[in-house]
Amino acid sequence: MTALVAPDLSRWQPWAAMVEDFGGPDEMHGSGYWHLDGDPVPTRTGCAAFVTMTEATSTADLDGTRVPSTYFWIAAQDGAPGDDLVGFLHLRHTLNEWLFEQGGHIGYSVRPAARRRGHASRALALGVSAAARLGIDRVLVTCDVGNDASRRTIEAGGGRFEDERQGKLRFWIPCDGPTAG
Ligand SMILES: CC(C)(COP(=O)(O)OP(=O)(O)OC[C@H]1O[C@@H](n2cnc3c(N)ncnc32)[C@H](O)[C@@H]1OP(=O)(O)O)[C@@H](O)C(=O)NCCC(=O)NCCS
Repeated sequence: MTALVAPDLSRWQPWAAMVEDFGGPDEMHGSGYWHLDGDPVPTRTGCAAFVTMTEATSTADLDGTRVPSTYFWIAAQDGAPGDDLVGFLHLRHTLNEWLFEQGGHIGYSVRPAARRRGHASRALALGVSAAARLGIDRVLVTCDVGNDASRRTIEAGGGRFEDERQGKLRFWIPCDGPTAG
């Protein structure tokens, strides 16, 4: 099982362990940290700052380059308190020019210790459902050429290949499809 949960300070310890497992923000490709005003610091204070930063992006069209978005943490089971955290998913509510060309609506990453257990596939399906609830009818999901794990995650989620642009493979997933649940 896999669940998406809202970032919350009550989960700071599993969050900090997850950040450390990744080996730092530079290794969290897909997590949406480029969209925040600071790097995650794996402490209680750092988690509080992270939660505040993620909430600030939920509605604001920040400086014209970033769009309103929702951050999720990927939980290993049903998302109940105490559930371990295994990754990140970032849902952009709209596409600006760069997101349309490169970034897409949804980014995700799963901590190294929890990979190849289906978490990314299930999280992406849940992210597509979250997009549907926002009224989005299809989501753009992209990956680097050569990122086979992400490409297969997208294809497993019903992604329809559109094209390659500047090293990115671009796929559309309909939000009313079988994975939208
Ligand atoms: C991409 C990533 C999120 C996949 O997470 P995961 O939880 O291991 O993925 P899943 O277990 O759901 O597997 C999804 C598919 O990818 C395949 N896959 C997973 N890891 C793979 C690998 N290293 N090489 C090839 N295929 C791989 C699985 O077999 C599965 O394909 P299938 O459905 O055809 O069997 C994870 O590898 C990751 O976080 N990578 C670094 C960050 C990143 O690249 N994020 C995406 C940015 S676009």
